[in-house]
Amino acid sequence: MADITDLLASRLECALYDVLGDDTYSDLTAAAIAAQIRPSSNDRFGDYQANIAMSLGKKLGRNPRELAQALCDALDLQGVCERIEVAGPGFINLHLDAAFINERIAIAGSDKRLGIERVKQPQTVVVDYSGPNVAKEMHVGHLRSTVIGDAISRVFDGLGHTVIRQNHIGDWGTQFGMLIEYMLESGATPHIGNYRVSDLNTLYQDAKKKFDAEPEFARRARERVVLLQGRDIDTANLWGQLISESYRHFDEVYRRLDVKLGQCDVRGESAYNDQLSSIVEALETLGLLKTSEGAQVVFPAGFKDREGEPMGMIVRKGDGGYLYATTDLAAARYRVGELHADRIIYITDSRQSQHFAMVFAVLRQTGWAPESVRLDHVPFGTVLGKDNRPFKTRSGDTVKLKDLLDEAEARASAIVDQKSPDLPSDQKQDIAHKIGIGALKYADLSSDRVKDYVFDWDRMLAFEGNTAPYLQNAYVRVRSIFRKGGIDPANLDAASIRVADPAERGLAIKLLQFPAAVKSVTDSLEPHRLCTYLYELATALHRFYEKCPVLTAKDDAQRASRLALCRVTADTLARGLGLLGIGVVEQM
Ligand code: ARG
Repeated sequence: MADITDLLASRLECALYDVLGDDTYSDLTAAAIAAQIRPSSNDRFGDYQANIAMSLGKKLGRNPRELAQALCDALDLQGVCERIEVAGPGFINLHLDAAFINERIAIAGSDKRLGIERVKQPQTVVVDYSGPNVAKEMHVGHLRSTVIGDAISRVFDGLGHTVIRQNHIGDWGTQFGMLIEYMLESGATPHIGNYRVSDLNTLYQDAKKKFDAEPEFARRARERVVLLQGRDIDTANLWGQLISESYRHFDEVYRRLDVKLGQCDVRGESAYNDQLSSIVEALETLGLLKTSEGAQVVFPAGFKDREGEPMGMIVRKGDGGYLYATTDLAAARYRVGELHADRIIYITDSRQSQHFAMVFAVLRQTGWAPESVRLDHVPFGTVLGKDNRPFKTRSGDTVKLKDLLDEAEARASAIVDQKSPDLPSDQKQDIAHKIGIGALKYADLSSDRVKDYVFDWDRMLAFEGNTAPYLQNAYVRVRSIFRKGGIDPANLDAASIRVADPAERGLAIKLLQFPAAVKSVTDSLEPHRLCTYLYELATALHRFYEKCPVLTAKDDAQRASRLALCRVTADTLARGLGLLGIGVVEQM
């Protein structure tokens, strides 16, 4: 089923053709026309507005009002609009036909997928997100990549693409020599496999302290790196223990965050070890390498430093060590060659934008990712504290993700205790989890991701405004109507919807925009667009409640219609939040 904007655009395209004729019309694409059609901000101006007469009038030197009128006369919107009119300097106001709305909502609302069609040509989409580093606890810096990546993956999944999640964890590098040597010297046994890290950060800090203070230890740590690279069995065992201990920690965080990442999605830096030399060799063969001060450097076309000199990316250091960039080249080659990715999406903070731009350029030059494979870096801003500086604990340390999750749940739990003291405690716990974690994730997802945002518990947990609790509460309101009326929502048929009141129309039209809102996330890779949509939907629902009695509607037909409208709205809220990785509750 075509989206309403697209449908209106195609009709407008015909009208433009009629009014302008071949020549003037030919550079107007359907997409360009659709971009000028938008839902009206106020129902006085109709349900949709087309603004094309203004820009076009200017371009063609024609009076925009007259042009708008000519377009109105030529527009065939039979069965779609009941009325169209020109307003102001040349807006075209489009008032949809109630029968058209009813017909559409009957179809979308009876569909399990709520009108979201599966894409006709599914792609294999690799989503690279989270990527924490082994032997370090996950901190607030990992929240964004994890949450945004999870939402983007769910949306691609939901549209029928094949999503391959890749957790590119930092599990290799010289620091592992230090860590393993430290583990060994503090009593870890390679063969028993009973190593437990109570606190990964402490392990790292203690090892580093010793490394800096004791030259003898530093020497042994360096030898340990060589042993690790040479796959010495004891060293490899301890490395494995360290990794699995870190996994245990990551898994717990993912589970609590309701993020779909498991051990099967982990393919860390170490997985590419034995391909790194071949990457460098291939670059050499292609003539893309230069040696500079002993290091091997690739210079992707078009990159210049501040002095205007070609800017390079080191792929192999003078001492033979490989770098983050080398691993990323190998990982991308694997994803294209072995995973058959049509598209690779990397979600990291914006400080890595340059890195990915250069990696992508090399991938194109080498053909490891041909032009047919779409590469996207999805950058995001920093989480700030109330002082507008990167979010830190009071003592100035980085905020551990686990502590954030604890606090989110504790705060939500206090709210639930206060709002619904009489619920059974396991239900309260479940509600607190979904509200707390939902609020945390939604606060992150709903802000324009490239911008920094200020972390604010009170705001994210508020029941008013663009927050998860506001949306979850909208869902709860519908469910409580059903409970109160003894209604089984499964029996509510969307075909019985008859919109009449402007608030009913507004809600139904908003519901029909759901598929387009979901799709916009795959085009823009901006989950906040779906958040904005859901917020508008919840707002339309509240407006509807205020104006239109549901259980006490004037007759059975109206009651059935309004109940069905509520049902489709609740389903859409739940589905939309689900695509963001956020749960709903029956009561709160
Ligand atoms: N481990 C990296 C970090 O903490 C993130 C990995 C992102 N993915 C990638 N393919 N480079 O910054």
